[in-house]
Amino acid sequence: MSNPVYLALDLPRLEAAEALARKVKGHIGGIKLGMEFFYAHGHHGVHELAHVGLPIFLDLKLHDIPNTVESAMQAIHVLEPAIVTVHAAGGRAMMEDAKAAAGEHCKVVAVTVLTSLDDDDIATIGVTGSAHDHAMRLADLAHSAGLDGIVCSGHEVGAVHRQWKDGCFVVPGLRLADGKQGDQKRIVTPRQARDDGASVLVIGRPISRADDPVAAARAIEATL
Ligand code: C5P
Repeated sequence: MSNPVYLALDLPRLEAAEALARKVKGHIGGIKLGMEFFYAHGHHGVHELAHVGLPIFLDLKLHDIPNTVESAMQAIHVLEPAIVTVHAAGGRAMMEDAKAAAGEHCKVVAVTVLTSLDDDDIATIGVTGSAHDHAMRLADLAHSAGLDGIVCSGHEVGAVHRQWKDGCFVVPGLRLADGKQGDQKRIVTPRQARDDGASVLVIGRPISRADDPVAAARAIEATL
């Protein structure tokens, strides 16, 4: 079984990101580059990280009108990402156009409800019902729009997996039992997410901010 852990390289410096990726390479399955990295280093940065030799997940969380998202997908096509994210809240047409513009081997997955939001937070942005119900609703929409999967918390992944058997389920908000929670609210352990059907485990600070990132990555790997 290949390693499902994608390391979130949320680091501002390219050299530091590349050095960390090389250090933990043997204990992760891929690299996740998000807005912080991409806005700072763009295509050049992605090409540099590609030299590490692991699949690249571009977590750009695209959310705009369909035409703009389609053009953005075309612009990143050359980078040959393994996974790209869009926001499910962008709606069906936006997701359909994003998928149509993506490369054949690129999985397009929709962010449902951010793992930093709980029920109280989503009420303040006008969403009725629980974060769980909203994530399930957006998962249905993403599925019917033809996407490859979704991003959700470990609290929902089991329920989504039961109704979407062959989806790609990306789960962030992962912490070992004694780990620092930080800004994440809907958290589970990597092992629990995996057991509940996660395909990709996104892990950032528990590895990148550890005193010994290799030991941290190894410890996480050992729990899976
Ligand atoms: O450091 P930590 O493990 O909390 O990093 C989680 C990563 O997953 C971050 O890069 C964050 O942008 C991303 N993410 C998330 N929640 C989502 C989607 C992505 O935390 N719903």
